[in-house]
Amino acid sequence: MDYTAQVEAAKAKFGELLLSQLKRVEDMKSQGDFVDYSKLDRIVIGVCGGDGIGPAITKQASRIMEYLLKDDIAAGKIVLKNIDGLTIERRVAENAAIPADVLEELKKCDVILKGPTTTPRKGDPWPNVESANVAMRKALDLFANVRPVRIPEQGIDWTFYRENTEGAYAVGSKGVHVTDDLGVDFTVVTSQGCERIIRAAFEFAKANGKTRVTAVTKANIIKTTDGKFLDTFREIAKEYPDITADDWYIDIMTAKLIDENRRRDFQVVVLPNLYGDIITDEAAEFQGGVGTAGSANIGKRYAMFEAIHGSAPRMVNEGREKYADPCSVIRAAAMLIAHIGRKTEADLLYKALDICTVTEKKLVITGRDTGVTGEEFADYIMDTIEKLKQVKK
Ligand code: IPM
Ligand code: MG
Repeated sequence: MDYTAQVEAAKAKFGELLLSQLKRVEDMKSQGDFVDYSKLDRIVIGVCGGDGIGPAITKQASRIMEYLLKDDIAAGKIVLKNIDGLTIERRVAENAAIPADVLEELKKCDVILKGPTTTPRKGDPWPNVESANVAMRKALDLFANVRPVRIPEQGIDWTFYRENTEGAYAVGSKGVHVTDDLGVDFTVVTSQGCERIIRAAFEFAKANGKTRVTAVTKANIIKTTDGKFLDTFREIAKEYPDITADDWYIDIMTAKLIDENRRRDFQVVVLPNLYGDIITDEAAEFQGGVGTAGSANIGKRYAMFEAIHGSAPRMVNEGREKYADPCSVIRAAAMLIAHIGRKTEADLLYKALDICTVTEKKLVITGRDTGVTGEEFADYIMDTIEKLKQVKK
């Protein structure tokens, strides 16, 4: 068989990928530092409902932000802005991961609260548009995916720093079918990309009194890309002599997370994109499921906060979206509020979430009319915050 033509075609595609990734390296090299929110006259919070149950649950998170930040909003220091149109229908119609006008609106914000968006997979009625999540992380260069998991009664307090723009995701939708029989995908790392996520993890550890940072790779097999990640980790660790730095392979790490004698020793974990994707679902499951976790996507200029569950189209088809649980996106809102420096308000919301979902649980959400609606639950959270404020006075 002569495969010359197919190989040449694949090489041409590969060449384009390399150029796009080298462009990214140049962009990273010229990037400034993190925004200092305390220096902005006005912080614009974009609220992007997404699709499926997204708009219904995000609306509840937005009501809570409006309530908690009302003084800043009244003073014009914080603006909440609704951004519609990040729906699977529009994305399909425009064959774009994020419609151009939506992306333009997003770029006018400083921070974004995002509801879930549908990612088509094989067999779905939708064509294979790229995931809006992944596209937004790339378009706004949100390189640090920060996912905390806390189970105080078991001594678990983990913070995952998942790299968010590289690895298997960098060109995840741009693999090459060289022939009908041969498919190739690519995984990508850059020195700049490794350095910024690893440094962010160590800086977080340092600022929060954490004594251990763990890197997770499969550098024994994926030698080039995971190897670079691990080498970079070891170099940067030298700058933090007070912090213990160790590394694990992803397979044994996955096992260790269920080892009750060992798992509480992990504190901050930094890892490439795909391993981070997988292990944060595992970790969230111990805490009560992915629906209980919020996720921060942080870059130097922008930051986006989201629930880590999906858009549950079935609930919408059955007319049940008003019963969808808004707690994960509300937790994401708490992370957003903390991120822009409103720590008192964020702490109130975290406390109220603990009371309403763990200790008091006066109302219960079941996803159906056997439980309360998301709106009723949001009211419960706000009432709880009011009570917390009274106690303080
Ligand atoms: C997540 C999700 C996304 C990812 C999907 C929806 C594209 O699983 O945020 O972890 O793979 O990153
Ligand atoms: Mg995931």
